[in-house]
Amino acid sequence: MSKLCKKIVLTGACGSLGMEIRETLADLADELLSVDIADAPATLLPNETFVQADVSKLDETLPLMEGATMAVHFASIPDERPFEDLLGPNFLSSYNVWEASHRHGVQRVIYASSVHAVGMVENAAGAGLDVDHAPDTFYGLAKCFAEDLGKLYWTKRGLESVHLRIFSCTKVPQNARALRTWLSFDDLRHLVDRAVQATTTGFTVIYGISNNDRAPVNNDKAAFLGYKPKDNAENWAESLMAAAAPADPSDRAQLCLGGPFATIPLGESGVAAIQAMTAPAPEEPTAEKEPDQAEDANAKKLPSFLTKKGMNP
Ligand SMILES: NC(=O)c1ccc[n+]([C@@H]2O[C@H](COP(=O)([O-])OP(=O)(O)OC[C@H]3O[C@@H](n4cnc5c(N)ncnc54)[C@H](O)[C@@H]3O)[C@@H](O)[C@H]2O)c1
Repeated sequence: MSKLCKKIVLTGACGSLGMEIRETLADLADELLSVDIADAPATLLPNETFVQADVSKLDETLPLMEGATMAVHFASIPDERPFEDLLGPNFLSSYNVWEASHRHGVQRVIYASSVHAVGMVENAAGAGLDVDHAPDTFYGLAKCFAEDLGKLYWTKRGLESVHLRIFSCTKVPQNARALRTWLSFDDLRHLVDRAVQATTTGFTVIYGISNNDRAPVNNDKAAFLGYKPKDNAENWAESLMAAAAPADPSDRAQLCLGGPFATIPLGESGVAAIQAMTAPAPEEPTAEKEPDQAEDANAKKLPSFLTKKGMNP
């Protein structure tokens, strides 16, 4: 029996999230074409084929979309970098996926957007889906670009798109910030399934976030997709709050949706800043070192903005 889609193209298939959704997509299509610049996964699903391609190049992207019903675009560098480093993988790749989809009559693009498209919005704003773009980095700017690209191709060319503003997608919540921002792998798969199965979407944006008690955003305007997340980071609250640093009401890394991405200098890694939130505490000063010297040694390990007191989620 033929499935909902004839062919789905997944870019970034070998990445951490791509690997989590391959099976979901394969269940929805006669053929799943997995694409990545990296080598193929060790094993492929029965209806899956793999093409190694660089989607920042239009000539490599065009042939992928031939005969496709939908494109699921997850390829990118998932972190802040200098603009020039992101231009190909994060900006041009999106243009190429939309343009190739348009030329081949693809019905819908499903895009891995990010909280960092609105990362400078404060948690306390209770943001819905109509909040203005407020990128916190060049990385977030690329997500804004792709969202606007999706809107343009819908209004001018009738190509549908669903933009999943993914927050922190990990197996379990990693730090106190994730009590607000966690997206479980099961909920990611459910979200992708809904984005594919919806009969019509036009241009749609939805937050990719689990059913967290402390979720700082709401998806009311995308209720028609039928996304009903089940997991809740609150189950980890006790241990994560015990490890959290003290609150600092003047710290935008704590106040804004983007977390540490809201305070890192443009071009510097935000992922390193998030990892530092969960990293073991720097060593205590030893007897051989003066306390000042020990502090300097720690300062070298951490991005500059993290060395100020009170940094936490
Ligand atoms: N992981 C998260 O919590 C999270 C949060 C928000 C948004 N996202 C977005 O979700 C998507 C997937 O994230 P991830 O965590 O799996 O990242 P990842 O780095 O694990 O995977 C990205 C994949 O894209 C591939 N890729 C990069 N440039 C490419 C190119 N030019 N051509 C073809 N393939 C290319 C990489 O080889 C890699 O396999 C990204 O777009 C990311 O921005 C992820």
